[in-house]
Amino acid sequence: MTEQLRLLGMGMAVPDKVMANEDFEKIVDTSDAWIRERTGIRERRFIGEGSLTELAAEASRKAIARAGIAPEEIGLVICATATPERAVPATACMLQKKLRIPAGTPAFDINAACTGFIYAMAAAQAMLPAIRGKYALLIGAEEVSKILDMADRGTCVLFGDGAGAAVAGVTGKPGTRVRIFADGDEEALSCGGYGGEDRHLRMDGRKVFRFAVSRLEGEIRALEEETGIPVSGIDYVICHQANARILDHVRRKFGLPEEKLYVNLDRYGNTSAASIPIALAEMAERRMLAPGKRAFAVGFGAGLTWGSCYLEF
Ligand code: UT7
Repeated sequence: MTEQLRLLGMGMAVPDKVMANEDFEKIVDTSDAWIRERTGIRERRFIGEGSLTELAAEASRKAIARAGIAPEEIGLVICATATPERAVPATACMLQKKLRIPAGTPAFDINAACTGFIYAMAAAQAMLPAIRGKYALLIGAEEVSKILDMADRGTCVLFGDGAGAAVAGVTGKPGTRVRIFADGDEEALSCGGYGGEDRHLRMDGRKVFRFAVSRLEGEIRALEEETGIPVSGIDYVICHQANARILDHVRRKFGLPEEKLYVNLDRYGNTSAASIPIALAEMAERRMLAPGKRAFAVGFGAGLTWGSCYLEF
């Protein structure tokens, strides 16, 4: 039986620079109405000045403070990012010194695109011996703006930058595993990505949309089965924030009342691996995650990757 991880403190940070839909009307052939109707996004943040590592550090400091622990008590640092400031050293290592986490603490990055934070949870759960008696610092941080093709209206309006972080502890209670999956077949690879010869992010929106809807549905059903709790008995479903229409589909499919499905993509767009921890941090700030509250978190993204976990606060 797996031991349950518990998220004890959350933090988030987004850049100051707001990019409203109207700003894109000056750059590509698009409109505020199209973006709002087809995606639900009103604005997003772009890192102008400043760095992703600084943003991740700010989110982490808040998470550590809210967990009420000292940086010395952190036994593991995992940063999920597909857009690190530098490829090497890892963002997690760059954060270590900034946050005064003791030398010798294992720290590494994970790239599972938008599913990154769920992958970080799974890695932490698999590395419990490193955390026992201590805590794990899990971060999702992205600067997607730097890989956007600002001439491609099909992608440039969708994404934003940001960072979210959580301090996780071991409860000692038996729990369910964090579910992570990937499928890198040719069809999946053609759905999107960046790097290699093309430095810009490319995405087949329609394909990813269909994939997202089917995986979200599948993961919620799988979590119901693994936890024995029907989604109707769960307080919140926290999905990767990619498109309001995807979230609406999930809401309708499971008959969820609006307050159960957290939505913030209207303000941040799709922040990839940062989207779930940013949502968690906002929910915590709004006092939605009181002790005893239960949530399903579900992510999906390029790779293709997907995954989910049950959270108990
Ligand atoms: O985190 C990774 C996961 N990513 C996702 O989950 C993304 C999932 N996919 C989506 O969110 C949607 O597919 C998009 C928002 C990307 C696109 O929405 P859609 O309703 O699937 O639009 P579409 O791609 O079918 O395009 C419809 C039309 C096209 O014009 P024509 O060919 O019908 O004349 C596009 O060229 O909308 C056009 N279009 C735009 N028009 C105005 C595409 N982007 C824009 C735009 N402004 N920004």
